[in-house]
Amino acid sequence: MNRPAGAQAAVLALAIASGLAAGACGSDPASSTTAGTPSTTSSLTSTAATTGADTTGSVGTTTGAGPTTSVSGTDGTTTDGTSASVTTATATQGAGGTGSSTTGTDTTGTTTAGEAPAMLSQTGLYTERAADGTLVLAEGVREFEPKYWLWSDGSDKKRYVYLPPDTQIDTSDPDHWVLPVGTKLWKSFISGDQLVETRLIERTGEGEHDFRYATYFWMAADATDATLMKYNNERLNAAGTTHDIPSGPMCERCHNGLQERALGFSALQLNHDLGGLNLATLLEEGLLTDPISLEIRIPGDDPVVQDALGYLHANCGNCHNDSPGLPDESVPPPQLLLRVLVDDLAVEDTDAYQTAVNQPTTASDELGYPWRIYGGDETQSALYFRMTRRMIEDQMPPIGTEVTHDEGLAAIQAWIQSLPPPP
Ligand code: HEC
Ligand code: HEC
Repeated sequence: MNRPAGAQAAVLALAIASGLAAGACGSDPASSTTAGTPSTTSSLTSTAATTGADTTGSVGTTTGAGPTTSVSGTDGTTTDGTSASVTTATATQGAGGTGSSTTGTDTTGTTTAGEAPAMLSQTGLYTERAADGTLVLAEGVREFEPKYWLWSDGSDKKRYVYLPPDTQIDTSDPDHWVLPVGTKLWKSFISGDQLVETRLIERTGEGEHDFRYATYFWMAADATDATLMKYNNERLNAAGTTHDIPSGPMCERCHNGLQERALGFSALQLNHDLGGLNLATLLEEGLLTDPISLEIRIPGDDPVVQDALGYLHANCGNCHNDSPGLPDESVPPPQLLLRVLVDDLAVEDTDAYQTAVNQPTTASDELGYPWRIYGGDETQSALYFRMTRRMIEDQMPPIGTEVTHDEGLAAIQAWIQSLPPPP
């Protein structure tokens, strides 16, 4: 969901309407944060803990991945959260940085995927999980949140970052930050009120492809630690929630589209006052090599337009962009580019405006939608139509969601209706 500054009340209302936990919009800058309230339902616990051969997961796997998934690893249909998976995960991924990616989706080289610690606690995120479900963060770990969120079917999320001491983020290109070696980013998913998954992105070396993706499964609502998932596996309806844990190749499809790998930890996404580590704090603490103006923002005088562009930036721009790291599977030229850049001062400057509004489609012929956005009418716009699709090949985003996002659709609809039709 998107979260325009100064519209907290409206955002909260939206959050409740869309079934998010009320805490979803509380921005707690404190270092010790609630990462989920343990459920009292212990049946979930036992179900989850004994699912070595989880038939639910196996049966539904193809659905959750979506028909467009390009998961290339073997064994994508079984799930296994036990620590015995560690050896396999490491072995199948090979050594990082050697160009020997085992997945078909990484056109940019290698993502270091192996060697992630077996347990989340070993990654340096937290020191203990308190009885109330709170994760007591380890020293140097800070919470942050992007201004515009990726819609994940209503899950609440918590995000954290660790920047190694005495390092700086290379911000010489404000649109593509280069994170220092040793940087770790985590994202937790809270489904209902249950902490169910925590993801990790780590910069492991100097090479531009030296990143590791890993994810950890909180098998029980009251677990004190989470277990590494096998890289090629996904798990549907994890721990009895509606949340699906993606496979490593799915991380790559969304995160390798930008060389910086971090998608929400960026200049435009952090320039806000919602709490947590933000652009102003990063500047104050001297953590950026090149200063970035606090005036930057998603363009548009009208909040309708800002919301729409921010939504597309966050939910679509990680794939729909033309920066290095573009995945091979893409839209035929002229590409559809939906990522906003720091220098985009006017709406008309944005790639989204230039490549979408009143522009013909190049990948939607069989859908009967000749226009990406047909000004004034969302029902003639492929972009809107694809956002209404789920569990079918042409849905957008193609992975990571099974439920349409009403607020996102409303934002895009309002923007399209404000635009003039093609000449
Ligand atoms: C559907 C696309 C998609 C998939 C699949 C996906 N991510 Fe992300 N991820 C995003 C986007 C977009 C953001 C930033 C927006 C947000 O957090 O709401 C993000 C944020 C994150 C963050 C916080 C740091 C950042 O980039 O802002 C981490 C850590 C992360 N993802 C790890 C992973 C891992 C590990 C996997 C696979 C297990 C994965 N993600 C799968 C799209 C995806
Ligand atoms: C994981 C990467 C990924 C994400 C995220 C993503 N897309 Fe796409 N998109 C693609 C790919 C690949 C294609 C081309 C294949 C196809 O047509 O399905 C495409 C095609 C499209 C097209 C057809 C363009 C044309 O000219 O025919 C539209 C419209 C579109 N996407 C809109 C969106 C919107 C809106 C979002 C966000 C709500 C989004 N996409 C998120 C990968 C992505």
